[in-house]
Amino acid sequence: MDNVFLLPEHYTDIELHAGQHGRFGQNLIYTSLAKTSYGELIEGYLSEGQTLTVMPANQYDSMIDVFFFIDGDITAHVGATSRLLRPQTLLSSDKIDLPLKLEAQSKARYLHFQAPPWMKPNPNEGKKGKANNLGFEFLFSRGSIELMFGTLDEGRTMHAIPEGEGAVEVYYIIDGLLSLESRANSAILKSGDYFVARDHIRTQACFANTKVNFLYFSNLAKNNGIEIFHNELINLASEVEQKDGYTADHCHRLQRLSVRTAKALGLGSDEIFRLGLGALLHDLGKVKVPLEILNKPGKLNNEEWAVIKEHPLQGSKMLANTELEIAATIVAQHHERLDGSGYPFKLKGNEILTESYIVAVADTFDAMTTDRSYRKALSTEVALAEIKALADKKIPKEIIDAFIKANGDE
Ligand SMILES: [Fe+2]
Ligand SMILES: [Fe+2]
Repeated sequence: MDNVFLLPEHYTDIELHAGQHGRFGQNLIYTSLAKTSYGELIEGYLSEGQTLTVMPANQYDSMIDVFFFIDGDITAHVGATSRLLRPQTLLSSDKIDLPLKLEAQSKARYLHFQAPPWMKPNPNEGKKGKANNLGFEFLFSRGSIELMFGTLDEGRTMHAIPEGEGAVEVYYIIDGLLSLESRANSAILKSGDYFVARDHIRTQACFANTKVNFLYFSNLAKNNGIEIFHNELINLASEVEQKDGYTADHCHRLQRLSVRTAKALGLGSDEIFRLGLGALLHDLGKVKVPLEILNKPGKLNNEEWAVIKEHPLQGSKMLANTELEIAATIVAQHHERLDGSGYPFKLKGNEILTESYIVAVADTFDAMTTDRSYRKALSTEVALAEIKALADKKIPKEIIDAFIKANGDE
């Protein structure tokens, strides 16, 4: 079995494991990924020529069998018809006349789980699209059981948000490299690796080292752990940066720089989650700034400058009473500085959240290394030198050091 990886020390937030290996009838080999109240989610393997038969339901077993084929070629025989199934197709036993015989033409790998037949398709089934941070397709959504295919582009982050008590959620990597960002260590997951989030286990920040295709399985998809990222406010925050002369990627870059810095500082996964949102949303309040001011080529006068200075507070007000409220204080404080020279409240020292300082450094760095209307981008070395000069004047030194350690090779 090649899906074994090292469990980093201090890793207590989530279950990272290679599962239990076993065999059932016909000598099929499988790995149990997770046990749910409806049965197990398994990763199964077929060797060339091996077959697997799904018999019609009987009084003892009326569950719907769901297969997702990951790789290899498999022929499905139903009655007199045979069809070659390509990788990354889904087959559920309620849509065909059983028995179904699956025959491997080459070494093949699949995921299998069962769903109770009384569960109705939920409105997500079949939906696909592109959210802010990831592409998604709901392959199977019945009642509270959900299987989603996700694509996270290189350099993007996402957060696994536990659904709550009784929830078992599995993130299974089909291809690409996904690193889990929390604590001082991170695990890098590759094809066949997975992690399980259960109950109220804390939010897990994930980062795509390369483009990553993964499967998300939940037995209790109340809100869908990833749905929050379709949020309009996040889209708005990234649109307004473009009006302010940045590229569409500014917010995501900031998120990446910030999350890495937090990891170097040893922040926990809840803090990293809040920070990731704060970074995405930091300039949301700029939607309240008139475009003539935001895009004014020359110097701003005092009144115009005063309007700009309202954006951190405007942003945090827009987040109040939304599901993103946990990021409101980070947003409100992202222009405050250690020595009290910032805005809007002229806060000082530890009146300012660590997360806000992190966003401040990342924003300053990104602004310096991006072409703006009024000047060309600075080189990374020059920008890092300028960042260093802020230590213990505008930003605490330990945060500057962590930023440079984590992002010096950007
Ligand atoms: Fe800002
Ligand atoms: Fe910004």
